[in-house]
Amino acid sequence: MSLAIHIEGLTKVYRGTTALRDLDLSIEAGDAFGFIGPNGAGKSTTIKILATLVRPSGGRAEVCGIDVVRRSDDVKPLIGYMPDVLGIYDDMLVGEYLEFFAAAYRIRGEPRRKRIAEVLELTELGEKRDAPVMGLSRGMGQRLGLARCLLHDPQVLLLDEPAAGLDPRARIEFKELVLQLRRMGKTLLISSHVLSEIGAMCNTIGIIEQGRLLYAGPIDEARKKLGAERVIRIRVHEEGEDDRSANAVLDLFRGHPDVEALKPGGAGEVLIRIRTDVEDTSFLAREIVRADLQLLHLEETTLSVEDIFLHVTQGRVA
Ligand SMILES: Nc1ncnc2c1ncn2[C@@H]1O[C@H](COP(=O)(O)OP(=O)(O)O)[C@@H](O)[C@H]1O
Ligand SMILES: [Mg+2]
Repeated sequence: MSLAIHIEGLTKVYRGTTALRDLDLSIEAGDAFGFIGPNGAGKSTTIKILATLVRPSGGRAEVCGIDVVRRSDDVKPLIGYMPDVLGIYDDMLVGEYLEFFAAAYRIRGEPRRKRIAEVLELTELGEKRDAPVMGLSRGMGQRLGLARCLLHDPQVLLLDEPAAGLDPRARIEFKELVLQLRRMGKTLLISSHVLSEIGAMCNTIGIIEQGRLLYAGPIDEARKKLGAERVIRIRVHEEGEDDRSANAVLDLFRGHPDVEALKPGGAGEVLIRIRTDVEDTSFLAREIVRADLQLLHLEETTLSVEDIFLHVTQGRVA
């Protein structure tokens, strides 16, 4: 087992505010680690320490076995850091933006041209080369941020809230990109304050609150321990009082391979528990419409990070 990231007893105090308290964390090479916690938990501080941008107050942190404080110059080539905000780049075109950062990494001449073409292809932004950075959609902007931190081909990617504000389509595209990077052997640390946002991208997760790690381990194990459920709440129009339409919906999905359980909720409502590994739930709406039922509402309810904290603090996760 080789560790891409190893943190021991890490502490950070900002003028009286303790952001990290004695944090221990290890991430194996090749993992996609979801770093989950509410705002102010210390995610960005941890990431910035690993990115050699913030000095810890105590403890130590290593990337691929190299100390981020004592040997920061050796750590920099190993990491790609994507901040939570992309920054303002008035009038800059996508191609120019990447030229600018490639120059900052001292990549020159033919290798620079080649590398920019490669990262544009990987992030599927080739056609946007001459588009202004500020005009990109949120999803494309995030892919450009990733392209930028891939320029020097780092081993470890530190992505701070990359999926925040992405619509479901863009999130699926982003997930595909994360999977591709994993196939390339990269290690990823991806932070979020919403588990459902990045759960599907990661094979392991860590939960941080008030600067302390509450849980770390494989995501499947966490789900099992927490009894995580993906429940879709559906409401259809009822003509009478007999819930005929809701019963028709139950009949539609009973025994469906992606459905774990279902039950009526009353007044045209149906609750459907979907297998946690099923990504695309669009079949639900499709089938309902196809059956000529009038769909009024469809909403996914997932275990929120707050729910998980409740479970964790109740000692349900050892
Ligand atoms: N530069 C700073 N100066 C003072 N306090 C800070 C600074 N950066 C972060 N903090 C504080 O440290 C704590 C952790 O912040 P942060 O690491 O940004 O958390 P997260 O990314 O999980 O939202 C918060 O209480 C925050 O207010
Ligand atoms: Mg943050």
